[in-house]
Amino acid sequence: SVLEMEVEQINKGRYEHYMQKEIHEQPESLTTTMRGRLIQGGSCKATTVLLGGLKDHMKTIRRSRRIVFVGCGTSYNAALAARPILEELSGVPVTMEIASDLLDRQGPIYREDTAVFVSQSGETADTLLALEYALENGALCVGITNTVGSAIARKTHCGVHINAGAEIGVASTKAYTSQIVVMAMLALAVGGDTISNQARREAIVDGLYDLPSKVREVLKLDNEMKDLAKQLIAEQSLLVFGRGYNYATALEGALKVKEVSLMHSEGMLAGEMKHGPLALVDENLPIIVIATHDACFSKQQSVIQQLHARRGRLIVVCSKGDAASVCSGGSCRVIEVPQVEDCLQPVVNIVPLQLLAYHLTVLRGHNVDQPRNLAKSVTTQ
Ligand code: AGP
Repeated sequence: SVLEMEVEQINKGRYEHYMQKEIHEQPESLTTTMRGRLIQGGSCKATTVLLGGLKDHMKTIRRSRRIVFVGCGTSYNAALAARPILEELSGVPVTMEIASDLLDRQGPIYREDTAVFVSQSGETADTLLALEYALENGALCVGITNTVGSAIARKTHCGVHINAGAEIGVASTKAYTSQIVVMAMLALAVGGDTISNQARREAIVDGLYDLPSKVREVLKLDNEMKDLAKQLIAEQSLLVFGRGYNYATALEGALKVKEVSLMHSEGMLAGEMKHGPLALVDENLPIIVIATHDACFSKQQSVIQQLHARRGRLIVVCSKGDAASVCSGGSCRVIEVPQVEDCLQPVVNIVPLQLLAYHLTVLRGHNVDQPRNLAKSVTTQ
């Protein structure tokens, strides 16, 4: 109806599409996700992470033999982004399960496991069935969802709400970045305070406080990404290479591009390049390399050199100030992003790729908010 159309326009505000609106509201959605959860401790500077829904289960989570992340699509990718920091701070082994694959294999889940179910909608059939399976197997089940009262929120033993606000676009954007922040806070909470990790914890907390403003800064790349989209508009395929904290960025960037712009795109682990993907490299295939500054930086630099040697057509995402050094061995297009604490960098790095996917879609004339064949929440197997 006309009224519904008007309401929809109002909800979109000054934006043309929900995906665009949701990308641009990430500074605010991230703020909401953190609100009331980082508690500055009285006289001393230390910050406590308060995840109310988990506090009665924290001991069990810390003592679990393993933490298993379970999700689909973007929610799986968000968990993958958070995995390294959860491993580092908790010392508990963290394994990853795509919900459908866990069910296909009827993979082992034990009483001593903490299984964490990540889902924007809280209604995804595979994730929900994997939850029922984990409950039967006696694991402690934790939900991380964006929908209060959803099936996954109700059926888990405990959980954390993402609080990113309603996400309408089929392509998940603001839920992804808020999920990563929730899981970084989970890592801080599970890790607890020890003298040895104090400096690291403080750096992460400071990084969390700064994150909305860094995301606001990276959103200024909008025009640059539109320009890049114009260059890529007629391509058949796009590869995205990442590693470490940003392996997830590669998978998620490629997922965004393929699901909305309908361009074939694959995210790849840069460490696997020589084990197959390198054969694809020539002067035509566009390749995005995520090479922001972290412990993997020098390895990514050598990947870039090897791609240059094969005359690869490179687009490099690097930290501000690294542009000259990162592309010394050949020509490439550089996208500079603000640097943040390494484990939070995926939150910043995905934003230009979300913008690229958005602009590619509009330029190619496809439906941004409702890509063909897809549903916002996949409630059938
Ligand atoms: C994301 O852009 C996709 N639409 C899709 O991969 C989605 O993340 C997946 O279906 C999981 O949904 P959920 O988070 O609601 O469980």
